[in-house]
Amino acid sequence: MKALLIAGARPNFMKIAPIFREALTHDEVECRIVHTGQHYDYEMSQAFFEDLEIPKPDFFLGAGSGTHAAQTAKIMIGFEQLCEKEKPDLVIVVGDVNSTLACSIVAKKLLIKVAHVEAGLRSFDLTMPEEINRMVTDSISDYFFVTEESGMKNLLKEGKQEDSIHFVGNVMIDNLFFQKKKLESDNGKRFSTFRLKQEKREYIFLTLHRPSNVDCSTTFHEIATALNQIAERTPIFFPAHPRTQKMMKKFNIRLSKNIIIMPPLCFKESLFLWKDAILVMTDSGGLQEETTALGVPCVTLRENTERPITIEMGTNILAGTKKESILRAYKERIEKRRKNIVVPPKWDGRASQRIWNIILNSKF
Ligand code: UD1
Repeated sequence: MKALLIAGARPNFMKIAPIFREALTHDEVECRIVHTGQHYDYEMSQAFFEDLEIPKPDFFLGAGSGTHAAQTAKIMIGFEQLCEKEKPDLVIVVGDVNSTLACSIVAKKLLIKVAHVEAGLRSFDLTMPEEINRMVTDSISDYFFVTEESGMKNLLKEGKQEDSIHFVGNVMIDNLFFQKKKLESDNGKRFSTFRLKQEKREYIFLTLHRPSNVDCSTTFHEIATALNQIAERTPIFFPAHPRTQKMMKKFNIRLSKNIIIMPPLCFKESLFLWKDAILVMTDSGGLQEETTALGVPCVTLRENTERPITIEMGTNILAGTKKESILRAYKERIEKRRKNIVVPPKWDGRASQRIWNIILNSKF
Protein backbone atom coordinates (compact mmCIF):
# COMPACT_ATOMS: atom_id res chain seq x y z
CA MET A 1 0.00 0.00 0.00
CA LYS A 2 1.47 3.30 -1.07
CA ALA A 3 0.71 6.38 1.02
CA LEU A 4 1.77 9.98 0.52
CA LEU A 5 2.12 11.89 3.79
CA ILE A 6 1.72 15.65 3.34
CA ALA A 7 3.51 18.41 5.22
CA GLY A 8 3.82 22.03 4.25
CA ALA A 9 3.97 24.38 7.21
CA ARG A 10 5.72 24.27 10.56
CA PRO A 11 2.93 22.71 12.67
CA ASN A 12 2.63 19.85 10.15
CA PHE A 13 6.15 18.57 10.70
CA MET A 14 5.59 17.47 14.31
CA LYS A 15 2.37 15.74 13.27
CA ILE A 16 3.83 13.73 10.41
CA ALA A 17 6.91 12.62 12.40
CA PRO A 18 5.17 9.97 14.55
CA ILE A 19 2.92 8.85 11.66
CA PHE A 20 5.99 8.29 9.50
CA ARG A 21 7.89 6.48 12.25
CA GLU A 22 4.96 4.16 12.84
CA ALA A 23 4.61 3.45 9.10
CA LEU A 24 8.14 2.03 9.19
CA THR A 25 6.94 -0.76 11.48
CA HIS A 26 4.53 -2.06 8.81
CA ASP A 27 6.24 -3.94 5.95
CA GLU A 28 3.17 -3.72 3.76
CA VAL A 29 3.24 0.11 3.76
CA GLU A 30 5.33 2.31 1.52
CA CYS A 31 5.02 5.76 3.06
CA ARG A 32 6.56 8.73 1.25
CA ILE A 33 6.83 12.27 2.63
CA VAL A 34 5.71 15.18 0.43
CA HIS A 35 6.81 18.69 1.45
CA THR A 36 4.74 21.31 -0.36
CA GLY A 37 7.21 24.12 0.41
CA GLN A 38 4.56 26.34 2.05
CA HIS A 39 7.24 27.10 4.65
CA TYR A 40 10.77 27.29 3.32
CA ASP A 41 13.14 29.22 5.65
CA TYR A 42 15.71 26.92 7.22
CA GLU A 43 14.41 27.45 10.76
CA MET A 44 10.75 27.09 9.69
CA SER A 45 11.28 23.92 7.71
CA GLN A 46 14.53 22.00 7.17
CA ALA A 47 15.62 22.43 10.80
CA PHE A 48 12.51 20.51 11.85
CA PHE A 49 13.31 17.44 9.79
CA GLU A 50 16.70 17.19 11.50
CA ASP A 51 15.33 18.00 14.93
CA LEU A 52 12.34 15.64 14.70
CA GLU A 53 14.57 12.87 13.37
CA ILE A 54 12.64 12.18 10.20
CA PRO A 55 14.26 11.74 6.79
CA LYS A 56 14.33 14.49 4.20
CA PRO A 57 11.11 14.65 2.17
CA ASP A 58 10.90 12.32 -0.83
CA PHE A 59 9.20 15.04 -2.86
CA PHE A 60 9.42 18.81 -2.61
CA LEU A 61 6.84 20.95 -4.42
CA GLY A 62 8.47 24.35 -3.73
CA ALA A 63 5.19 26.29 -3.50
CA GLY A 64 6.49 29.13 -1.29
CA SER A 65 4.53 32.14 -0.02
CA GLY A 66 1.81 34.12 -1.75
CA THR A 67 -1.83 35.05 -1.37
CA HIS A 68 -4.04 32.18 -0.23
CA ALA A 69 -5.24 31.55 -3.77
CA ALA A 70 -1.74 31.72 -5.28
CA GLN A 71 -0.21 29.46 -2.64
CA THR A 72 -3.05 26.93 -2.72
CA ALA A 73 -3.04 26.86 -6.53
CA LYS A 74 0.72 26.28 -6.73
CA ILE A 75 0.48 23.39 -4.28
CA MET A 76 -2.44 21.88 -6.20
CA ILE A 77 -0.68 22.01 -9.57
CA GLY A 78 2.50 20.45 -8.18
CA PHE A 79 0.66 17.80 -6.21
CA GLU A 80 -1.59 16.78 -9.09
CA GLN A 81 1.47 16.07 -11.26
CA LEU A 82 3.03 14.10 -8.43
CA CYS A 83 -0.08 11.98 -7.85
CA GLU A 84 -0.35 11.19 -11.53
CA LYS A 85 3.23 9.96 -11.51
CA GLU A 86 3.25 8.18 -8.15
CA LYS A 87 -0.31 6.79 -8.14
CA PRO A 88 -0.70 6.50 -4.35
CA ASP A 89 -3.49 4.45 -2.76
CA LEU A 90 -3.88 6.93 0.05
CA VAL A 91 -3.06 10.57 0.80
CA ILE A 92 -2.69 11.50 4.47
CA VAL A 93 -3.14 15.17 5.36
CA VAL A 94 -2.73 16.65 8.83
CA GLY A 95 -4.06 19.77 10.55
CA ASP A 96 -5.56 22.78 8.88
CA VAL A 97 -3.03 24.69 6.80
CA ASN A 98 -3.33 25.59 3.10
CA SER A 99 -1.33 22.48 2.14
CA THR A 100 -3.93 20.30 3.92
CA LEU A 101 -6.75 21.80 1.87
CA ALA A 102 -4.86 21.84 -1.46
CA CYS A 103 -3.67 18.23 -1.34
CA SER A 104 -6.96 16.78 -0.12
CA ILE A 105 -8.87 18.39 -3.03
CA VAL A 106 -6.33 17.16 -5.60
CA ALA A 107 -6.32 13.59 -4.26
CA LYS A 108 -10.07 13.33 -4.03
CA LYS A 109 -10.57 14.51 -7.62
CA LEU A 110 -8.12 11.83 -8.75
CA LEU A 111 -10.21 9.26 -6.85
CA ILE A 112 -7.47 8.66 -4.29
CA LYS A 113 -8.59 8.00 -0.71
CA VAL A 114 -7.94 10.84 1.76
CA ALA A 115 -7.24 10.46 5.47
CA HIS A 116 -7.48 13.62 7.60
CA VAL A 117 -5.55 13.53 10.85
CA GLU A 118 -6.91 16.06 13.38
CA ALA A 119 -10.35 16.04 11.75
CA GLY A 120 -13.51 17.62 13.15
CA LEU A 121 -12.01 20.52 15.10
CA ARG A 122 -14.09 23.68 14.71
CA SER A 123 -13.65 27.24 15.96
CA PHE A 124 -16.90 28.26 14.20
CA ASP A 125 -15.00 31.38 13.17
CA LEU A 126 -14.98 31.69 9.41
CA THR A 127 -12.64 34.68 9.48
CA MET A 128 -9.85 32.18 10.22
CA PRO A 129 -8.33 30.66 7.06
CA GLU A 130 -7.72 27.48 9.06
CA GLU A 131 -11.44 27.04 9.77
CA ILE A 132 -12.18 27.07 6.04
CA ASN A 133 -9.35 24.59 5.46
CA ARG A 134 -10.72 22.30 8.17
CA MET A 135 -14.28 22.40 6.86
CA VAL A 136 -13.37 21.83 3.20
CA THR A 137 -10.95 19.01 4.00
CA ASP A 138 -13.52 17.31 6.21
CA SER A 139 -16.20 17.66 3.55
CA ILE A 140 -14.30 15.27 1.23
CA SER A 141 -12.15 13.01 3.43
CA ASP A 142 -12.65 9.23 3.67
CA TYR A 143 -11.02 8.67 7.07
CA PHE A 144 -11.51 11.10 9.93
CA PHE A 145 -8.91 10.69 12.67
CA VAL A 146 -10.08 12.69 15.66
CA THR A 147 -8.14 14.05 18.65
CA GLU A 148 -10.92 14.97 21.06
CA GLU A 149 -14.60 14.37 21.66
CA SER A 150 -15.71 17.72 20.22
CA GLY A 151 -14.32 16.55 16.86
CA MET A 152 -16.59 13.48 16.88
CA LYS A 153 -19.63 15.56 17.76
CA ASN A 154 -18.93 18.14 15.05
CA LEU A 155 -18.46 15.51 12.35
CA LEU A 156 -21.62 13.63 13.32
CA LYS A 157 -23.57 16.91 13.29
CA GLU A 158 -22.24 17.53 9.79
CA GLY A 159 -23.65 14.18 8.70
CA LYS A 160 -20.50 12.07 8.43
CA GLN A 161 -20.84 8.29 8.56
CA GLU A 162 -20.13 7.04 12.06
CA ASP A 163 -17.86 4.26 10.82
CA SER A 164 -15.56 6.74 9.04
CA ILE A 165 -14.89 8.66 12.28
CA HIS A 166 -12.12 7.30 14.48
CA PHE A 167 -11.25 8.74 17.89
CA VAL A 168 -7.54 7.87 17.95
CA GLY A 169 -5.95 10.50 20.19
CA ASN A 170 -3.42 13.11 19.23
CA VAL A 171 -0.33 12.64 17.06
CA MET A 172 0.97 16.01 18.31
CA ILE A 173 1.16 14.41 21.76
CA ASP A 174 2.83 11.26 20.33
CA ASN A 175 5.55 13.58 19.10
CA LEU A 176 5.67 15.57 22.34
CA PHE A 177 6.24 12.48 24.51
CA PHE A 178 8.83 11.10 22.07
CA GLN A 179 10.76 14.38 22.01
CA LYS A 180 10.48 14.98 25.75
CA LYS A 181 12.12 11.64 26.41
CA LYS A 182 14.95 12.52 24.03
CA LEU A 183 15.39 15.84 25.79
CA GLU A 184 15.66 14.12 29.18
CA SER A 185 18.84 12.38 28.07
CA ASP A 186 20.32 15.74 27.15
CA ASN A 187 20.78 18.70 29.52
CA GLY A 188 20.10 21.30 26.81
CA LYS A 189 23.63 22.75 27.00
CA ARG A 190 23.89 22.81 23.23
CA PHE A 191 21.00 25.25 22.91
CA SER A 192 21.74 28.94 22.40
CA THR A 193 19.11 29.73 25.05
CA PHE A 194 20.66 27.46 27.74
CA ARG A 195 22.35 30.36 29.58
CA LEU A 196 19.32 32.61 29.31
CA LYS A 197 17.09 29.94 30.87
CA GLN A 198 19.53 29.49 33.74
CA GLU A 199 19.84 33.22 34.32
CA LYS A 200 16.15 34.06 34.28
CA ARG A 201 14.71 31.00 36.06
CA GLU A 202 11.13 32.43 36.17
CA TYR A 203 9.89 33.40 32.73
CA ILE A 204 6.91 33.37 30.39
CA PHE A 205 7.11 31.76 26.94
CA LEU A 206 5.26 33.57 24.15
CA THR A 207 4.33 32.75 20.55
CA LEU A 208 2.23 34.97 18.31
CA HIS A 209 1.60 34.69 14.60
CA ARG A 210 -2.14 34.53 13.75
CA PRO A 211 -3.04 36.99 10.96
CA SER A 212 -5.99 38.19 13.08
CA ASN A 213 -3.52 39.21 15.81
CA VAL A 214 -0.47 40.46 13.95
CA ASP A 215 -1.84 41.67 10.60
CA CYS A 216 -4.13 44.22 12.28
CA SER A 217 -2.30 47.24 13.73
CA THR A 218 -4.88 48.01 16.46
CA THR A 219 -5.02 44.43 17.73
CA PHE A 220 -1.25 43.99 17.63
CA HIS A 221 -0.74 47.26 19.57
CA GLU A 222 -3.37 46.21 22.11
CA ILE A 223 -1.65 42.84 22.67
CA ALA A 224 1.80 44.46 22.81
CA THR A 225 0.67 46.95 25.49
CA ALA A 226 -0.58 44.10 27.68
CA LEU A 227 2.62 42.10 27.13
CA ASN A 228 4.82 45.10 27.99
CA GLN A 229 2.94 45.50 31.25
CA ILE A 230 3.28 41.80 32.12
CA ALA A 231 6.99 41.89 31.25
CA GLU A 232 7.57 44.46 34.00
CA ARG A 233 7.03 41.59 36.48
CA THR A 234 8.33 38.57 34.58
CA PRO A 235 10.63 38.33 31.56
CA ILE A 236 9.05 36.97 28.41
CA PHE A 237 10.89 34.74 25.92
CA PHE A 238 9.52 35.37 22.45
CA PRO A 239 10.61 33.32 19.43
CA ALA A 240 9.08 35.41 16.64
CA HIS A 241 7.51 33.95 13.49
CA PRO A 242 8.60 35.61 10.17
CA ARG A 243 5.09 37.02 9.64
CA THR A 244 5.21 38.61 13.12
CA GLN A 245 8.70 40.05 12.59
CA LYS A 246 7.52 41.67 9.35
CA MET A 247 4.44 43.15 10.96
CA MET A 248 6.36 44.47 13.99
CA LYS A 249 8.43 46.58 11.64
CA LYS A 250 5.44 47.65 9.56
CA PHE A 251 3.35 48.77 12.55
CA ASN A 252 6.29 50.09 14.54
CA ILE A 253 5.48 47.83 17.51
CA ARG A 254 7.79 48.60 20.44
CA LEU A 255 8.33 45.82 22.95
CA SER A 256 9.82 46.15 26.43
CA LYS A 257 13.46 45.11 26.77
CA ASN A 258 12.17 42.48 29.18
CA ILE A 259 10.60 40.74 26.17
CA ILE A 260 13.48 38.80 24.73
CA ILE A 261 12.91 38.36 21.01
CA MET A 262 14.60 35.39 19.33
CA PRO A 263 14.40 33.75 15.90
CA PRO A 264 11.96 30.81 15.44
CA LEU A 265 13.21 27.84 17.45
CA CYS A 266 13.21 24.21 16.45
CA PHE A 267 10.99 21.79 18.34
CA LYS A 268 13.38 20.53 21.04
CA GLU A 269 14.71 23.97 21.98
CA SER A 270 11.23 25.39 22.10
CA LEU A 271 10.11 22.50 24.34
CA PHE A 272 13.24 22.97 26.48
CA LEU A 273 12.02 26.51 27.23
CA TRP A 274 8.24 26.24 27.46
CA LYS A 275 8.04 23.08 29.58
CA ASP A 276 9.59 24.97 32.52
CA ALA A 277 7.95 28.35 31.91
CA ILE A 278 5.66 29.66 34.65
CA LEU A 279 3.18 30.42 31.88
CA VAL A 280 2.80 30.04 28.13
CA MET A 281 1.03 32.79 26.20
CA THR A 282 0.16 31.85 22.65
CA ASP A 283 -2.18 31.98 19.68
CA SER A 284 -0.97 28.61 18.37
CA GLY A 285 -3.27 25.59 18.24
CA GLY A 286 -0.58 23.02 18.97
CA LEU A 287 0.78 24.72 22.09
CA GLN A 288 -2.69 24.79 23.65
CA GLU A 289 -2.66 20.99 23.41
CA GLU A 290 0.95 20.43 24.37
CA THR A 291 0.73 22.62 27.49
CA THR A 292 -2.39 20.67 28.47
CA ALA A 293 -0.50 17.39 28.15
CA LEU A 294 2.34 18.60 30.41
CA GLY A 295 0.20 20.64 32.82
CA VAL A 296 1.82 23.98 32.00
CA PRO A 297 -0.53 26.98 32.48
CA CYS A 298 -1.53 28.50 29.15
CA VAL A 299 -3.18 31.78 28.21
CA THR A 300 -4.51 31.77 24.64
CA LEU A 301 -4.50 35.12 22.88
CA ARG A 302 -7.63 34.48 20.84
CA GLU A 303 -11.38 34.92 21.14
CA ASN A 304 -12.13 31.23 20.50
CA THR A 305 -10.52 27.83 20.28
CA GLU A 306 -11.21 24.81 18.10
CA ARG A 307 -9.67 22.72 20.88
CA PRO A 308 -12.18 23.06 23.76
CA ILE A 309 -10.81 20.04 25.64
CA THR A 310 -7.73 22.15 26.53
CA ILE A 311 -10.02 24.45 28.52
CA GLU A 312 -12.42 21.81 29.89
CA MET A 313 -9.71 19.42 31.11
CA GLY A 314 -6.43 21.18 30.51
CA THR A 315 -4.62 24.25 31.72
CA ASN A 316 -5.75 26.61 28.96
CA ILE A 317 -7.74 29.81 29.35
CA LEU A 318 -9.03 32.11 26.58
CA ALA A 319 -7.84 35.69 26.99
CA GLY A 320 -9.24 37.47 23.95
CA THR A 321 -7.08 40.14 22.36
CA LYS A 322 -7.89 43.29 24.33
CA LYS A 323 -5.37 44.69 26.80
CA GLU A 324 -7.71 44.43 29.80
CA SER A 325 -8.94 40.91 29.00
CA ILE A 326 -5.36 39.68 28.52
CA LEU A 327 -4.26 41.17 31.85
CA ARG A 328 -7.28 39.60 33.56
CA ALA A 329 -6.57 36.16 32.08
CA TYR A 330 -2.89 36.46 32.96
CA LYS A 331 -3.71 37.28 36.57
CA GLU A 332 -6.19 34.43 36.86
CA ARG A 333 -3.85 31.85 35.35
CA ILE A 334 -0.72 32.99 37.18
CA GLU A 335 -2.51 32.78 40.52
CA LYS A 336 -3.57 29.18 39.93
CA ARG A 337 -0.12 28.13 38.67
CA ARG A 338 0.25 24.43 37.95
CA LYS A 339 -2.71 22.28 38.78
CA ASN A 340 -3.04 18.52 38.79
CA ILE A 341 -2.38 17.24 35.34
CA VAL A 342 -5.43 15.73 33.67
CA VAL A 343 -4.47 14.47 30.24
CA PRO A 344 -7.41 14.13 27.80
CA PRO A 345 -8.46 10.60 26.80
CA LYS A 346 -6.15 8.79 24.38
CA TRP A 347 -3.46 11.49 24.51
CA ASP A 348 -1.10 8.70 25.45
CA GLY A 349 1.51 8.69 22.69
CA ARG A 350 -0.17 5.91 20.69
CA ALA A 351 -2.39 7.80 18.22
CA SER A 352 -0.19 6.97 15.19
CA GLN A 353 -0.28 3.30 16.08
CA ARG A 354 -4.11 3.41 16.15
CA ILE A 355 -4.23 5.30 12.85
CA TRP A 356 -2.18 2.70 10.95
CA ASN A 357 -4.08 -0.20 12.52
CA ILE A 358 -7.36 1.30 11.30
CA ILE A 359 -6.03 2.04 7.80
CA LEU A 360 -4.50 -1.41 7.39
CA ASN A 361 -7.60 -3.17 8.64
CA SER A 362 -9.80 -1.46 6.07
CA LYS A 363 -10.27 -2.44 2.43
CA PHE A 364 -8.23 -0.84 -0.33
C1 UD1 B 1 0.65 29.06 8.35
C2 UD1 B 1 -0.73 28.42 8.57
C3 UD1 B 1 -1.12 28.53 10.03
C4 UD1 B 1 -0.03 27.97 10.94
C5 UD1 B 1 1.28 28.68 10.62
C6 UD1 B 1 2.42 28.18 11.47
C7 UD1 B 1 -2.27 28.61 6.67
C8 UD1 B 1 -3.48 29.29 6.16
N1 UD1 B 1 -1.74 29.11 7.81
O1 UD1 B 1 0.53 30.44 8.64
O2 UD1 B 1 -2.30 27.80 10.25
O3 UD1 B 1 -0.38 28.16 12.28
O4 UD1 B 1 1.58 28.45 9.23
O5 UD1 B 1 3.58 28.83 11.18
O6 UD1 B 1 -1.85 27.65 6.08
N2 UD1 B 1 7.37 33.29 5.76
C9 UD1 B 1 8.75 33.31 5.74
N3 UD1 B 1 9.40 32.11 5.76
C10 UD1 B 1 8.75 30.93 5.78
C11 UD1 B 1 7.36 30.92 5.78
C12 UD1 B 1 6.68 32.10 5.78
O7 UD1 B 1 9.36 34.36 5.74
O8 UD1 B 1 9.41 29.88 5.78
C13 UD1 B 1 6.66 34.58 5.79
C14 UD1 B 1 6.21 35.00 4.41
O9 UD1 B 1 6.43 36.35 4.31
C15 UD1 B 1 4.74 34.72 4.38
C16 UD1 B 1 4.35 34.83 5.84
O10 UD1 B 1 5.51 34.46 6.59
O11 UD1 B 1 4.06 35.57 3.56
C17 UD1 B 1 3.23 33.93 6.23
O12 UD1 B 1 3.45 32.58 5.81
P1 UD1 B 1 2.20 31.63 5.39
O13 UD1 B 1 2.68 30.26 5.11
O14 UD1 B 1 1.41 32.32 4.35
O15 UD1 B 1 1.29 31.62 6.67
P2 UD1 B 1 1.65 31.48 8.21
O16 UD1 B 1 1.33 32.76 8.87
O17 UD1 B 1 3.02 30.92 8.42
